[in-house]
Amino acid sequence: MAPQLNSLPFTTIIFFFFLHFPVLPVANHGLQTFIVQLHSQNMSAALNHRQWHLSFLPCSSRLLYSYHTTLVGFSALLFQDEASALRSTAGVISVHPDRRLELHTTYSYEFLGLGNGNAVARGSNSGGRGIIIGLLDTGVWPESPSFSDSEMPPIPSRWKGVCQSGECFDSTNCNRKLIGARFYSKGHRANAPPGGRAAAAALEYSSPRDAHGHGTHTSSTAAGAAVPKASIFGSGAGTATGMAPGAHVAVYKVCWFNGCYSSDILAGMDDAVRDGVDVLSLSLGGFPIPLFEDSIAIGSFRAVERGVAVVCAGGNNGPAASLVANEAPWITTVGAGTLNRRFPAVVRLGNGSLLYGESVSGSSENGGKRVEGKMVICHRGVNGRAEKGEAVKEAGGAAMIIANSIVNQEEDSVDAHVLPATIIGYAESIQLKSFMNSTETPTARLIFAGTTIGKSRDPAVARFSSRGPSLAMPSVLKPDIIAPGVNIIAAWPTNLGPSGLPADHRRSNFSILSGTSMACPHVSGITALLRAAHPAWTPAAVRSAIMTTADILDRYGKPIMDGAEPAGLFAMGAGHINPTKAIDPGLIYDISPDDYIIHLCSVGYTKPELFAITHRIVDCGERMEKNRMFSLNYPSISVEFGKMEDEILIGRTVTNVGEIKSTYSVRVRPPPGVAVRVVPERLDFGGINESRGYRVWFLSTRKEKGEWYSEGEISWVREGGNRNRVRSPVSAKWAA
Ligand SMILES: *[C@@H]1O[C@H](CO)[C@@H](O)[C@H](O)[C@H]1NC(C)=O
Ligand SMILES: *[C@@H]1O[C@H](CO)[C@@H](O)[C@H](O)[C@H]1NC(C)=O
Ligand SMILES: *[C@@H]1O[C@H](CO)[C@@H](O)[C@H](O)[C@H]1NC(C)=O
Ligand SMILES: *[C@@H]1O[C@H](CO)[C@@H](O)[C@H](O)[C@H]1NC(C)=O
Ligand SMILES: *[C@@H]1O[C@H](CO)[C@@H](O)[C@H](O)[C@H]1NC(C)=O
Repeated sequence: MAPQLNSLPFTTIIFFFFLHFPVLPVANHGLQTFIVQLHSQNMSAALNHRQWHLSFLPCSSRLLYSYHTTLVGFSALLFQDEASALRSTAGVISVHPDRRLELHTTYSYEFLGLGNGNAVARGSNSGGRGIIIGLLDTGVWPESPSFSDSEMPPIPSRWKGVCQSGECFDSTNCNRKLIGARFYSKGHRANAPPGGRAAAAALEYSSPRDAHGHGTHTSSTAAGAAVPKASIFGSGAGTATGMAPGAHVAVYKVCWFNGCYSSDILAGMDDAVRDGVDVLSLSLGGFPIPLFEDSIAIGSFRAVERGVAVVCAGGNNGPAASLVANEAPWITTVGAGTLNRRFPAVVRLGNGSLLYGESVSGSSENGGKRVEGKMVICHRGVNGRAEKGEAVKEAGGAAMIIANSIVNQEEDSVDAHVLPATIIGYAESIQLKSFMNSTETPTARLIFAGTTIGKSRDPAVARFSSRGPSLAMPSVLKPDIIAPGVNIIAAWPTNLGPSGLPADHRRSNFSILSGTSMACPHVSGITALLRAAHPAWTPAAVRSAIMTTADILDRYGKPIMDGAEPAGLFAMGAGHINPTKAIDPGLIYDISPDDYIIHLCSVGYTKPELFAITHRIVDCGERMEKNRMFSLNYPSISVEFGKMEDEILIGRTVTNVGEIKSTYSVRVRPPPGVAVRVVPERLDFGGINESRGYRVWFLSTRKEKGEWYSEGEISWVREGGNRNRVRSPVSAKWAA
């Protein structure tokens, strides 16, 4: 029996929430945290790293962290004039202020969620066995059944990590599933705004224990054990499983109530790479900045050099263009898509019309009882949906409808609201408003669960998912891939309610969140599956397999949508992840760390900028050739016609990882305004690991002037038998 709410009068309230704290100027009497990069050549043999770093500082208490794996240098508290003086000290490469980044859920306290639905990654029989996924996040709730180790193999002997003790956390909290846990709070503490936030700080554990839920959610999405009968108060019931249930988890807690500081993130990455993780998963970031100033780009370069695959959320700044973050070419940048699971919670208007909505709140909580009172309509805005519910409840509202704006279109991100509530799409919100205009006494009721009103085209791009083109590296198409990121159900701490709100006294081992934060660990887990299945593959090969096999059609065989339009490449990258196909891609596009350096040279990075990223003295010199910039062996293709240029030649190399003998032929869908010629049009392979090069000529046929983009694709299709299709999206740009 579906519980129902009685007819309620409407009132409309518009809430404006500003959820993120401003970046405050720092207390500490003018001291500020800086990240200082050094020339590794300058370290005298007599000193250890810490002593060397201290030699740049007036006293040892100023040092936060010494780095030596993902970055050579340190972070420290400095006065502005000291920072300026350091910039001109011999051996110092760069001095950057610490940077505050945020978690990539669409809301940082309640953390919107996604359900991982019918566990897409079950295709691989290894389940990621033997692979270690490191997550930089808010920590972990180790008691969650998702971190049970009963099915887990022993800890790999190469593992060098630790289970760091702290508040309410000790070595007994680790096991064969959760094999490592560390925390980093120096940058956070140095930057924490004084006063007001002390109360929030008091709620945090000074240990790897998760006080927010986000890290517990993301790590269980990546590699959580199978937990039968998981649900949020009955909604979304089923078995919850991470993408790589056989993989081990190591958590690096770098995010706290005030966000995630670069100095802490670098310390976490430094340790994670030395500890021996195979995959690093970062569901956090900021706005795009130049790569040589971006500590995630810098830290991840050296991680990738050491064979660690780095997977990052692209951010939740969509649908505006060019705000995709974590866009370095050596990072797998993940956007969010919708799932096919729905949580119908329909609004029945007083005149009998039904408006489709979704919710996980209000059903079993109210036990089918009727609740009477005012129903409040809230405009969705950008953030804080669960907070809106709390505010409505505090103001005496009995129920809430969240109405999507034109920006959100029909994307319903549901929350574990503290009162009966639903979220309706933009079309429904217009109808709702016109109904309210049509009568003096508008009434409605909410009908939870059991109602099926088909309307969804899944997967679709989440409207909030950040879009390309990349600002920092426009020569590489970003994001790379989309994965489930809307209404994801995963593990949750039991010291806070599933809405994450302090006043929420309900308890659940699971909660539902949305964001590219939730999409990222899906890809991290699938990356672990591929690494277990193909141990010899590089991080670039794994990403290539994921990208070239991605789906561009939804489950109705129609183009994946982005709101009311078919999704473009800057929204979905290569498409929606398909792990079963990714395990067997046929061909891969491999990239070595040196290739990234050549690419940075060709797009004009200076020696110091290159040094900041690679810690190598690079002489670009003859490494550069005409149009070399478009020839990074990336699985997607991005070309730009300059003012005077109407012809571009690029090269690519594919390596056979499929059948010993195989032949592929090319299929081209040229971007409008471009003639494309591929040479050769057939590639013959006589063995595994054989590589074949091909060239592509792009000729602009466009007469108009001015900035413009168009999209196409180049695919290699295997002849006969299993027809692997190796697809590369192509983006063409005409400069203004
Ligand atoms: C540090 O290394 C750089 C580059 O090798 C060199 O130019 C500089 O003189 C060195 N400085 C010191 C103090 O050794
Ligand atoms: C409802 O009425 C308001 C005020 O008259 C008007 O601004 C709005 O456009 C109307 N909305 C619809 C959907 O008819
Ligand atoms: C109820 O009102 C809405 C908005 O005015 C209208 O679109 C709809 O057709 C009405 N339904 C019925 C059954 O009259
Ligand atoms: C969470 O899971 C644990 C272990 O399976 C169980 O003992 C506990 O009752 C669960 N808590 C809730 C609130 O369901
Ligand atoms: C392909 O190359 C990888 C990495 O060099 C190697 O481990 C593997 O054995 C090779 N496979 C074959 C069939 O030669």
